[in-house]
Amino acid sequence: MSPSQPPVTLLPFAERATSLAPSATLAMTARVKDLQAQGIEILDLTAGEPDFSPPKCVEDAAIKAIHEGRGRYTAAAGMMELRKAVAAQVERELGISYDPKQIVITNGAKIGIAQALMVMVESGDNVLVPTPCWTSYPEMVKLAEGEPRVVDCGASLLPRVEDLEAARDERTAALMLNSPCNPTGMVFPEQLLREIGEWAADKGVRIISDEIYSTLTYGGAKHYSPLQLVPELQDTSVWIGGMSKAYAMTGWRMGFLAGPMDLAKSIAKVQSQLAGSPNAISMYASLAAIENADVEREEMRQAFEARCKIVVDALSEMPGVDCPNPSGAFYAFAGVRSFLGKTCPDTGRKVESGDDLVELLLEADQVATIGGSAFGAPEAFRISFATSEEVLRACMKRIAARLAKLT
Ligand SMILES: Cc1ncc(COP(=O)(O)O)c(C=O)c1O
Repeated sequence: MSPSQPPVTLLPFAERATSLAPSATLAMTARVKDLQAQGIEILDLTAGEPDFSPPKCVEDAAIKAIHEGRGRYTAAAGMMELRKAVAAQVERELGISYDPKQIVITNGAKIGIAQALMVMVESGDNVLVPTPCWTSYPEMVKLAEGEPRVVDCGASLLPRVEDLEAARDERTAALMLNSPCNPTGMVFPEQLLREIGEWAADKGVRIISDEIYSTLTYGGAKHYSPLQLVPELQDTSVWIGGMSKAYAMTGWRMGFLAGPMDLAKSIAKVQSQLAGSPNAISMYASLAAIENADVEREEMRQAFEARCKIVVDALSEMPGVDCPNPSGAFYAFAGVRSFLGKTCPDTGRKVESGDDLVELLLEADQVATIGGSAFGAPEAFRISFATSEEVLRACMKRIAARLAKLT
């Protein structure tokens, strides 16, 4: 640039990026890693992923696929063999019958949900988000230029039809449902899902049913899909599943969605322009898991069930903690309203929110959890039980002792 030329002015970054909240859960995970790198021993209850290794057949199938040179582009919607296997699994486990062409394989359920929103939501539409909710839903709706409408679930942690109806208007494009739920661990009862499904079908609201935790239920709780209970929804709505939680394959980035043919094709078209096609090696690995790893999947579920019991038993003995029993996913969401305004005598820290309590537990007890504000519920905090029973027992003891000290 010659001295006589005016300095170049760049336009600012787009609003959609600057207004986006960073992922609070990933921020806490980074903080824990940082403290651990400084040599501080932290007991970590922040994990959003199973602490198990994937089934052996997954690794074998991936290595075989690499050696056979299968790491190539596929059709945008994914390998037909895997789409067939997913359709068969959905039929077997939920009783919903999809043509394999209605299945789209995505690079993780997360991007599948985002792509579904891009197809369903027109600028200015709104999407109902029962809260507490997974931290990414509101931000994904905003990226699709929609308005996330928070619908508070209240003390039961379950959405109510009358609240959904009160929040709905003619620009309501979709409802996000997530059972088993992150962060609450709630498995929505069959009758409630039926009522919500019938309401949605009646009002012309599409559902995005995020069932990524569907295989992880405990204590006799049974997972239902609203699309199975109200079959008309199969003509309007989207089912979301994936490999991350059920098969401990988080880093393999494999998700699935199913919807009516026109919607599935539109989502595949968006995917063809954004991702191209899903990860081919992970598709071979996922195919092996779906066909051969039912036993390992069940073993992992049983391990989570035992951990869930440890957490539920411990929480039920903490006076003042408000936590409907979790029966799915791998989280408990503890309400701490009765502790707000109290002070820790050891540190002088006052607890005004779930996030403050999380800070206190981290500083004073070296226990890492996630504050409820990340999930739209600031008077609570999330405990992940994706860790060993030994760590869980130690953490629950420390949390109980700290809460008992607050005055
Ligand atoms: C509720 C919920 N949906 C979707 C996902 C995304 O899963 P994936 O790893 O398949 O992108 C997560 C991951 O934490 C989740 O908790």
